[in-house]
Amino acid sequence: MAPSQSRILTVLLLIGLATACTGPGATPVPLAEEVSVRPGINESWKSDDIGPLIGRLETESREIYSERGLLGAVVGPRPGSVVADVGAGSGFMTHLFARLVGAEGLVYAVDINPTLLDSIDAGAAERGLTNVRTVLCTEKSVGLPPQSVDLVFICDTYHHFEYPRNTMSSIQRALRPGGQLLVVDFDRIPGVTADWLLEHVRAGKEVFRAEIEAAGFEFTGEHDLESLEDNYILRFSKR
Ligand SMILES: C[S@@+](CC[C@H](N)C(=O)[O-])C[C@H]1O[C@@H](n2cnc3c(N)ncnc32)[C@H](O)[C@@H]1O
Repeated sequence: MAPSQSRILTVLLLIGLATACTGPGATPVPLAEEVSVRPGINESWKSDDIGPLIGRLETESREIYSERGLLGAVVGPRPGSVVADVGAGSGFMTHLFARLVGAEGLVYAVDINPTLLDSIDAGAAERGLTNVRTVLCTEKSVGLPPQSVDLVFICDTYHHFEYPRNTMSSIQRALRPGGQLLVVDFDRIPGVTADWLLEHVRAGKEVFRAEIEAAGFEFTGEHDLESLEDNYILRFSKR
């Protein structure tokens, strides 16, 4: 076959292949799996030796803990509403929300660490709170039923999501129409923020905000609390 004929044959084959892949009868090609954006970031959080983990979260030198009352008021879950504390950790915000929503409301404490969840259950029982449910989730989905919650709270945890697109789409599904999302995370300012934190938190506020908007949320504002020096608070609603 002459070289020009062989080129024509190759082009015809490629056109045929493209038509077969995109035509109306084509088999859908599965979308690529999301890959971890930060492999290994949760290694220590999977430990069942939870004493040191709780110690890290519940210390007065941590502004999120020392300002928890103010934070709860800013989040402002309505009495009777359903809240999900995603990445609940030791559960101090879960327990606080449980008081704010009252007996008619419900708080889901969602985490990937079952031992932390057992401790949250025990803490709820000690406090006489009957409106807390713990949910062991996966790293790709919060595992909550569709349209089951009014408000999702994610505190110092968004940067721990290894599969943020998967996790955020599960959160989007779990929220009721008009549902609210509050995200608290670390400011990340080169030259100001400590080096370990710049390394630990993979991106800053603008990047996280854009990712969350792309996951089906509308940005509705930022809460500027004078007493929070290291963290910002962003509010979104479900689109
Ligand atoms: C730094 S701690 C913050 C805990 C709590 N929100 C606080 O501010 O005190 C991060 C928590 O997120 C949990 N976590 C990590 N990846 C998660 C995921 N994909 N879904 C739910 N929880 C996750 C960890 O097990 C850990 O309890």
